[in-house]
Amino acid sequence: MSKKPPQQHKESNDHISNETELLHIPVLLEKVIELLSPKTNETYLDLTAGYGGHARAILAKTGNASKMTLVDRDNFAIQQLESFRELGAKVVHDDFAHFIRSAIAGAKRYNMVLVDLGVSSPQLDKAERGFSLKRNGPLDMRMDQRQEKTAADIVNHASETVLQEIIERYGEEPPGRARAIARAITRARPILTTQVLADVILNTHRGRFQKTHPATRTFQAIRIELNRELEQVETLLKNIPALLEPGGRIAIISFHSLEDRLVKQYFADQANAGYEAELTLLTKKAILGKTDDVHNPRARSAILRVAVKK
Ligand SMILES: C[S@@+](CC[C@H](N)C(=O)[O-])C[C@H]1O[C@@H](n2cnc3c(N)ncnc32)[C@H](O)[C@@H]1O
Repeated sequence: MSKKPPQQHKESNDHISNETELLHIPVLLEKVIELLSPKTNETYLDLTAGYGGHARAILAKTGNASKMTLVDRDNFAIQQLESFRELGAKVVHDDFAHFIRSAIAGAKRYNMVLVDLGVSSPQLDKAERGFSLKRNGPLDMRMDQRQEKTAADIVNHASETVLQEIIERYGEEPPGRARAIARAITRARPILTTQVLADVILNTHRGRFQKTHPATRTFQAIRIELNRELEQVETLLKNIPALLEPGGRIAIISFHSLEDRLVKQYFADQANAGYEAELTLLTKKAILGKTDDVHNPRARSAILRVAVKK
């Protein structure tokens, strides 16, 4: 190899002065490599390639970038993956549900597939992306910047009932609390920044809060709704066997119970399908990121499940 893929950066929560300081530490890296168990020249599909942290470790084992396909819907992530492209990898700017449909239409199959769901630390850390309630920025939250609709459209234009449903369904807030938040939002409109939204929600909360900010679940809910995140996971799950070569492995890392519930159910269905099962589970129980890296806040809620195609 003549060129090295980009260096990873370290995580820093309090000081972001330029892009080179943004960090993304791949979660559960050792476990992912152990269970995907890459062999020389095997094909690899990374459906959420991000900053290429996992991909870099896989490449070190397979030694062949031209056998890698790296997908991400975020333009900034795609730019970071340029050095993989220079090495011969296929880098695709797309959402993975759409990519999967076209891969299957083209009868493409892979030895390894990785899906590391959710947002990356650099997405959260950049205030202007509007993902984080701790950083004041516009209400954006788009994973794909080509999309027109932003979080501001939902916050300012959805009816109170629809907002309540979103907060209940994707934020898993109890109905009474979701209703109170939805009402406060509609009364405070227009809301243009993450800070104002966080404060409006905070004001609906009586008493002091412990660790988690009262707006955390609503932010998650709006992000999931805006980016159709669960529909993406559902399309993935329906198509896993068609994406894998016989003996091919898939690893899925999820970060919240809504995603993991879908993945867990799919894995359980496979485990209980008897002779009709297309996959064998390599993780009988999920592997949790808690113990992985105490310095990486994302790792704390990571849930890894891995299976192999028969
Ligand atoms: C947790 S990060 C992945 C980090 C990567 N594993 C690494 O080591 O650098 C998740 C990435 O997936 C992307 N992403 C999330 N949902 C996606 C989807 N449905 N389709 C394509 N990319 C998606 C995000 O834009 C983000 O860059």
